[in-house]
Amino acid sequence: MKIIHFSDPHGGGGAEDWMAYFDKRWVGVFNYRFRRRFQHDLSKLEKAVGYILDVKPDLAVCTGDLTSSGQPGEFERVKKILAPLVESKIPLVYTPGNHDCYVKRPWCVKAVKEAVYEVNQKRFTFDEMPCRMELGGAEVLMLNTSRPSNLLCSWGFVYKKDSRKIAELCEAEKKAPRILVTHYPLIEDNKWLRFRHALFGQGELVKLLKAQKIDLVLCGHVHKHFLKVDENGCGQCCSGSVTRNGNMVEIDYDNGTFSFNTVDL
Ligand SMILES: [Fe+2]
Ligand SMILES: [Fe+2]
Repeated sequence: MKIIHFSDPHGGGGAEDWMAYFDKRWVGVFNYRFRRRFQHDLSKLEKAVGYILDVKPDLAVCTGDLTSSGQPGEFERVKKILAPLVESKIPLVYTPGNHDCYVKRPWCVKAVKEAVYEVNQKRFTFDEMPCRMELGGAEVLMLNTSRPSNLLCSWGFVYKKDSRKIAELCEAEKKAPRILVTHYPLIEDNKWLRFRHALFGQGELVKLLKAQKIDLVLCGHVHKHFLKVDENGCGQCCSGSVTRNGNMVEIDYDNGTFSFNTVDL
C-alpha cells in the first residue's frame, strides 16, 4: 500500500470583505501580504497534484491549512488546483487546519465546511468528524483539532467527546493499518517553545498511539517535515509544508512496516 501525504499549502489573498479588518482575518491577510506569499509557492501544489496523479497511490492525504485566513475566495483558489485530484479515482482525505478554521464569520465557516465535504470527495461532512473509513487498504480515522483561536495564538484542541469517540473506534479489531489524520502533531519536542501554536487535550490519543491501537498519525501544522517513528515505522509523520519546502512524503506499507521517503517537487 502506498500513501502520499502533503500539507499546509497556505493559499491566501487580500481581505474579502470589510469585516475582515475587525476580526482575526486581518492578521492572516497581513501575514500573507508581507510574509507568506513570498514563502509559499502554490505552483508546488500544482506539481504535487500532477505527481500524485502519475503515481496513483492507494490513498492521498492532506493535513490542512489550505488557506491563510479561511476566506471563501482562498478556498476556491486552492480547490481549483486540487480539482484534478479530487475528481480522480484516487481516494483523497483532508482535515482542516487552524488557518482554515480561522474565524467564526458564518461565510468563512460555510467555506471550510464546503471544502471538507468536496475535497473529501463527498465521503463525510465537517460535522461528522471524527469518523472512520476503510480506504485504499487502510483504516482511516479523521479528526478535526482546529478551531478559531484568539488573535495571538494558533491553538488546537482535542475535545473530550472526540477523544472518546476515537477511543471507541479503536476498540474494534484492527483489520488493516489504522491511521489517524489530523492537523496538529500529537507529539512535539518543543511544545513550550511553540506554545502559541500548541495542541491541547491529546493525552488519550497519545496513549492509544503508544498502545499501538493507532499505528500512524499523519499531521501537518509544523512546516518542516519530521518523523517520530519506531523500528516498524509506527508513530507520527509530519509532512511539512508542500508549498514552502516543496516536499511531500511517500509512505509505503508492507508486512506490518511503514517506510517513508520525501518527494522533492
Ligand atoms: Fe500551516
Ligand atoms: Fe497550522
